[in-house]
Amino acid sequence: MRIEKCVQGGAGFGRLPDGSVCFVEGALPGELVEIKVIERKKDFAKAGVLNILEPGKGRRIPPCPYYGKCGGCNAQYAEFELQVELLRQITLDLFSRTAKINLPQNFEIHCGAQWGYRYRAQVFFEMRGSNTVIPVKKCMVLSEKLNEKLKEVPLTKKIHLFDNQSEKFLGKYIHADESVFFQSNLELLPKLIGEVARAANEGELLLDIFCGVGLFSAFLQGKFERVIAIEQNSLCQKFAERNLGKNCEFYAMGAEEWCSQNAELLSEACVLIDPPRAGITNELCDVLCKNKSRKLLYISCNPATLARDTRKLLNAGYELVDIQGFAFYPQTFHLEMMAVFNL
Ligand SMILES: C[S@@+](CC[C@H](N)C(=O)[O-])C[C@H]1O[C@@H](n2cnc3c(N)ncnc32)[C@H](O)[C@@H]1O
Repeated sequence: MRIEKCVQGGAGFGRLPDGSVCFVEGALPGELVEIKVIERKKDFAKAGVLNILEPGKGRRIPPCPYYGKCGGCNAQYAEFELQVELLRQITLDLFSRTAKINLPQNFEIHCGAQWGYRYRAQVFFEMRGSNTVIPVKKCMVLSEKLNEKLKEVPLTKKIHLFDNQSEKFLGKYIHADESVFFQSNLELLPKLIGEVARAANEGELLLDIFCGVGLFSAFLQGKFERVIAIEQNSLCQKFAERNLGKNCEFYAMGAEEWCSQNAELLSEACVLIDPPRAGITNELCDVLCKNKSRKLLYISCNPATLARDTRKLLNAGYELVDIQGFAFYPQTFHLEMMAVFNL
């Protein structure tokens, strides 16, 4: 099979002799591969690579000795420059099909270190989909400090590794612990914070929805007269209060509920949303579309749901004025994005 392109998640896309679509794990665009069909559905098939007959430019031997066993870092067979180009192509394709818009071909993807970038991790001691124990001595994407911690953890249970309880970014200490969400690529994070601050500019009211420990508000609060931070996980409250000080109003409640109850504030505010991978619910999307803000900043860790939500926001009358990628997870096909919508 000749691989035409890569799709969301990284699989190669090609067609079987009968014309039906086939997704091939581990294959790169342009490659000629011998495949084994693993699963057949009504509209498509899934396959694995048996032989690479014509390797693509940028293919390499995965550097990590645990590649293919541990279940993480599934983009290692591509050189990093190619990984970034694939992320760009996948995102362009996704936005053209799902959001029905053409992003600029060369939209920016900011990059940092390719290895040793993770300052937070969950370690599982079972191989994906089986009970086999894989003793990992060193993980190439973890920070040095986490690799030291990895040596000490018992080989029996799932464990959270967290580098530090407070981190300094752009001159400020931000506090968190392993019980709450915190970004994992700390080297590239100041770039994202800087771009969010630039896009938010200044104003009267900032709504930081899905705020976690108040990371973004901590850097934006000086530019707004009033900041309201909303987060479902009540464990975040003590950290948010510490990170934001007394000026901030923190609500430990669901975004949907808070926004429905305070819809009139949405249209006056600069709204920042940073939802989990599933994106925003229909309920939240409806409130945001009925009470449009002058500026909506959407931070996303899943381009597929961002593309879906972008279509809905555009249909409601928002305009997409900026979109950027942040390669927060090198060696994987995950991409962090920031999209800015204006009225
Ligand atoms: C991707 S994290 C972003 C956190 C924060 N903006 C940051 O960068 O550190 C998403 C956050 O949304 C919270 N969350 C998930 N569903 C929510 C909901 N329905 N309402 C409010 N917060 C929610 C999670 O607990 C998590 O802290």
